[in-house]
Amino acid sequence: MMPVPVPFLDLPAEYRRLKAEIDAAIQRVLDRGQFVLGPEGQALEQEIAAFCQAAHGVGVASGTDALELALRALEIGPGDEVITTAFSFIATAEAIVAVGATPVFADIDLDTYTLDPAAVHAAITPRTKALIPVHLYGHPCRMDELLAIARQRRLKVIEDCAQAFGAQITARRVGSFGDAGCLSFYPTKNLGGYGDGGMVVTRDAALAERLRLLRHHGDRGRYDHQLIGRNSRLDELQAAILRVKLRHVDAGNQARRRHAGQYAQLLTRAGVAELAHLPGELPGHHHIYHLYTLRLEQRARIQPALAEQGIVTAVHYPTTLPSQPALAPFITARPGGYPNAEAAARTCLSLPLYPELSTDQLSAVVDSLARLLRA
Ligand SMILES: Cc1ncc(COP(=O)(O)O)c(C=O)c1O
Repeated sequence: MMPVPVPFLDLPAEYRRLKAEIDAAIQRVLDRGQFVLGPEGQALEQEIAAFCQAAHGVGVASGTDALELALRALEIGPGDEVITTAFSFIATAEAIVAVGATPVFADIDLDTYTLDPAAVHAAITPRTKALIPVHLYGHPCRMDELLAIARQRRLKVIEDCAQAFGAQITARRVGSFGDAGCLSFYPTKNLGGYGDGGMVVTRDAALAERLRLLRHHGDRGRYDHQLIGRNSRLDELQAAILRVKLRHVDAGNQARRRHAGQYAQLLTRAGVAELAHLPGELPGHHHIYHLYTLRLEQRARIQPALAEQGIVTAVHYPTTLPSQPALAPFITARPGGYPNAEAAARTCLSLPLYPELSTDQLSAVVDSLARLLRA
């Protein structure tokens, strides 16, 4: 029997499903002829702010820029320390370095792969100014505990929501907890465009205004430059496409949750759940499964064997942030290291998961993985 091919992602399948709406949105922008800072971007900012339960949205060129500009708008810079997770995509740490501040890493817990509040507490110094919790893989951080620490120590909180668009704690969306929430619209994200893009959401009107200046050369209008900013704008084609996709994002996230439930059920039925350390969800936390990531001691054997059967998996991430060569000049090593982040980096493996994943594909992944784990 021919194996069922299972790509890691299937963006063309999503386009086929939304083609009529997306084509119409693109045509509308082409007919209007306004491509940067126009009505689509403004409408998207309002729609996303409402979705994220934040008062304001400011579109920018990427999730990386969202983080960097949020730090700048909060006046975090040289001499300041910013605590973040030892286990994330490098952009989280790059943004801190880009504003001249010092990244300080804290370990994660292995239930959520997000910041361990006790490790954050231990990392605070008199120079700590801000905290960047990352809702990794789509699971919200333990925000109650992190916000309590931030309040007590008067720290700014910038949520990195790049992987968690639509995730919630009880009825509250991520991005609405901190001073600013940073979104990425990179094509593979749960709300992804057809190019790069990002946004900062915030309840703070003055911060939003500062971000609007920073993303557009500090210009208040008609060449009236109030501060040194740069060009980090979200273009109209991306905004129009994202407005279409926003209407479908909750349904997509529900489909991801259904598939995650099915993975858990089938892997448990196959008797390999404990060997695979399945991802879970803290009570009251609504995981949107941007990634379905397991931990496998035998990843080095299993990943290529899955690939031989046409099943594409990925490693997010093979290296902790403190071990990245690019960050070495900016950090001081902490005694004890980051044991949980290191365990995750050594063993994590993300399975294919996207709304269009079929039952046959999902079963094929489970069958192959269970066979390999038992071997
Ligand atoms: C956790 C995290 N933070 C930040 C980013 C940066 O987003 P972008 O690629 O849009 O710059 C990404 C995505 O790639 C991410 O996964």
